[in-house]
Amino acid sequence: MAEPVLAAFRGRHLLSISDLSADEISGLINTAHRFVEVSEREVKKLPTLRGKTVVNLFFEPSTRTRTSFEIAGKRLSADVINISAQSSSVLKGETFKDTVLNVASMNPDALVIRHPSPGTPLYASKIAGCSVINGGDGAHAHPTQALLDMMTIMEHGKSLQNIRVSIIGDVLHSRVARSNIAAFKMFDAKITVCGPKTLMPPDVGSLGVRVTHDISEAVREAEVIMMLRIQTERMAQGLFPSLREYSAQFCLDSRVMKKARPDAIVMHPGPINRGIEISSEVADGPYSVILDQVAHGVAMRMAVLYLLCGGAEQ
Ligand code: NCD
Repeated sequence: MAEPVLAAFRGRHLLSISDLSADEISGLINTAHRFVEVSEREVKKLPTLRGKTVVNLFFEPSTRTRTSFEIAGKRLSADVINISAQSSSVLKGETFKDTVLNVASMNPDALVIRHPSPGTPLYASKIAGCSVINGGDGAHAHPTQALLDMMTIMEHGKSLQNIRVSIIGDVLHSRVARSNIAAFKMFDAKITVCGPKTLMPPDVGSLGVRVTHDISEAVREAEVIMMLRIQTERMAQGLFPSLREYSAQFCLDSRVMKKARPDAIVMHPGPINRGIEISSEVADGPYSVILDQVAHGVAMRMAVLYLLCGGAEQ
């Protein structure tokens, strides 16, 4: 493990990919790589974060992110507490600020925050007095997803440097796309984004990516094909005529995959909408690394918690 990286992380926040240097991303991936093996043991536990407390504060639904932060903390022997908006005093009218201040008074070592409003983890980091990790804020950022995605690409024998990546689907609403684009650019990746015009961010021209509205073209040269979920919950009005018409043009199915390189990998952060942005045949097929992403999510979150909350003393 790169010791300078380790020492440099202690007590910091992880709010967006721009908090990290390319070297730090590589350091996190190396650290996470070492943690993969812990999850394959009979006794999946290290004493590393004994006596540390991690609070998951989730104001939006989550399966993978919340569970993997919980499992990651527990595999490192931290005490992990989960609070969801539905089971908290938010339902009684308590503000985000008061919720954070009250949780912070109990002296946790890290707060993992997911919230529909962009910027809430940043705000929390200014008042919480402990490390804050962004578990996804609106359409803004989801840094640990980008980190686990990069780790997955490397675990599949690919180098991040100059890699050809196509990100396809609802780019407009995707914090995963934003964080991945920011991270890939640090490794000079050749990034293509693809989707209907109405699901492209207005600033797409300034992101330094190639834009296409033709999925076959997006797939053709890509070493990594990253599919995104259609986020109907973030759409105020219909941005495309119907899901059926969307899938006719943008679903990654075996017909489209015929255009792909034989060594391409297919990724999706989940939850997947089968038959809409990806067919079951592709999601469950030989190109798919979707469940590897989930497995690596645990290792990457172990690395993040270890470096932010434990680190140098251990
Ligand atoms: C993503 C998210 O919540 O941003 N899922 C995840 O964290 N694995 C993507 C999505 O909701 O589509």
